[in-house]
Amino acid sequence: MERRKFLKDVLKAGVGVTAGLTVGSALSFASQGKIELPLPYVKLDPKKVADRAYDGYYEHECAYGVFNAVIGELQRKVGGPYLGIPTLMFWYGGGGAAGWGTLCGTLNAAGAIFNLTCKQKDFKAMIDTLYEWYQTTPLPTYIPCKGNWCKQPFPKGVSHSPLCHVSVQRWCKNASVYFGRPILYNSKERSERCARLSATVAAKVVEMLNDYHFGNFKPHKVKGSQKTKMDCRLCHEVTMKELS
Ligand code: HEC
Repeated sequence: MERRKFLKDVLKAGVGVTAGLTVGSALSFASQGKIELPLPYVKLDPKKVADRAYDGYYEHECAYGVFNAVIGELQRKVGGPYLGIPTLMFWYGGGGAAGWGTLCGTLNAAGAIFNLTCKQKDFKAMIDTLYEWYQTTPLPTYIPCKGNWCKQPFPKGVSHSPLCHVSVQRWCKNASVYFGRPILYNSKERSERCARLSATVAAKVVEMLNDYHFGNFKPHKVKGSQKTKMDCRLCHEVTMKELS
């Protein structure tokens, strides 16, 4: 039974709460600085979380879409320490942090979720696993059941980078070929792409967490050089051999 597993997790996590905790007491835990990580995790439905992330994107952009979908579901199903987390704090991550085009907001939110819910020794490898999947997979794959493009074929793109700017522009390039007209950064199509991407990443995060906590998933570390794991050739016109 889920509740029994949850209580076990709560004890393991050293959080002295039960499922019936109120908002007030969750906040008082926060103010006493007693919330210890990782927070307890219960199995979530990837499809449900994806739908929520898709809607969330159109409210407060990508990072909020992902963070609110996953943490919002945990607030509903676990309550306790999650109730003190204002999910709107991730609005800042939209467009690679307030439109700076740096780290994709979906990945920014996912990193925080892993940091909150996985063991200290594992959360960075969870990030590695997700980012590697993100930059090598044709995305987005989520298909919404409402909206203008519902159930219609929709272009995908491989980003080769966790950066918002690169990921968006590479998709726009593909989409322009696909639609047979220029698809620009400020187009409705690009917004829809990022909404679907938020849903796709949110579902992937939950699949990974379900597998990590209740299956036998082992995240794998990605080796980096010069303190970075980005593909050097994205910006440097040299071979890997020359760089190392
Ligand atoms: C997002 C773009 C980007 C990526 C990806 C990137 N770099 Fe750079 N790198 C830069 C920029 C910009 C500079 C500064 C260049 C300058 O000021 O002339 C730089 C500088 C460097 C320098 C110093 C070069 C010099 O001439 O002083 C080294 C070494 C370097 N990068 C190695 C790497 C390696 C190794 C990787 C892959 C692991 C990497 N970079 C990935 C953008 C990038």
